[in-house]
Amino acid sequence: MPRPPRPVIERLKTGVPGFDELVAGGIPRGFMVAVVGEPGTGKTVFSIHFAWQGILEGDRVIYVTTEESRDSIIKQAAMFGMDFALAVDEGRMIIIDALMRGRGDEWSLEELAVEAMVQKVIEAKKRLGYGRARLVIDSMSAFWLDKPAMARKYSYTAKRLLYRWDFTTLAVSQYAISTSQAFGWGIEHVADGIVRFKRVIRDGRLRRFVLIEKMRQTPHDLRLHEVEIRDGEGMRILGPTGERAEDYALPERVKRRIARTAREYWGEEDWE
Ligand SMILES: Nc1ncnc2c1ncn2[C@@H]1O[C@H](COP(=O)(O)OP(=O)(O)OP(=O)(O)O)[C@@H](O)[C@H]1O
Ligand SMILES: [Mg+2]
Repeated sequence: MPRPPRPVIERLKTGVPGFDELVAGGIPRGFMVAVVGEPGTGKTVFSIHFAWQGILEGDRVIYVTTEESRDSIIKQAAMFGMDFALAVDEGRMIIIDALMRGRGDEWSLEELAVEAMVQKVIEAKKRLGYGRARLVIDSMSAFWLDKPAMARKYSYTAKRLLYRWDFTTLAVSQYAISTSQAFGWGIEHVADGIVRFKRVIRDGRLRRFVLIEKMRQTPHDLRLHEVEIRDGEGMRILGPTGERAEDYALPERVKRRIARTAREYWGEEDWE
């Protein structure tokens, strides 16, 4: 039997230098990708790049912010030379804010409910007009804060309702070990891709990493890569680290020192 022709997949650039090469050129159009990680690992900065790249390419861009105000997102982007305020003024971008509740703003969310958020996003898409669109939901996990067992159902609902609207979506999710242990994976199964950010303190300094854990229809990089966030420029990928994702907890040197100290105190022979 002849092989079927290799499908041509349109991929959207993220705008993060060094990232697109890890995913065969970009994120496939129409995908919903989960961006997960602990606080301060770079999920929002990554999302801001993705949104700005959309502006540069003439896409419609919608950014839902639940943890930070619209102002805060605009300021963070401006630190990296990205003018979200102008994009909003020119009608190319809408930032939906979940923190301004009750202040009568057209693009604020009255309640943290998935259906209401999705309706607002669709309204925003209609306003921005036809064409390829990028959506950032930062964060999705805000919608299941007090009901983590609903994570998978809510993610599925959002994906299903947004399917027809030509979005390529980043769905940010704070990573909570307790959530995955107690309720199973939520957004991770529903998403077409998982980009996981990590952090570690090594030699007294914070270092950040990224790992592509899943990207359907994509021969993606399997290694942990170091990430840098620079003032004035934003995020970039520095390159693969020699470290394995599962053992970046304590460096060998530190473990040896602990073992030595323990032996000195307690005379243990097999402390390691
Ligand atoms: N102008 C800047 N220059 C250098 N680093 C910056 C700058 N702005 C932000 N950062 C870095 O980015 C970090 C914030 O990253 P980001 O907001 O993307 O985290 P996050 O993963 O979204 O966290 P959370 O889950 O709390 O929202 C800051 O803690 C800081 O280290
Ligand atoms: Mg954030």
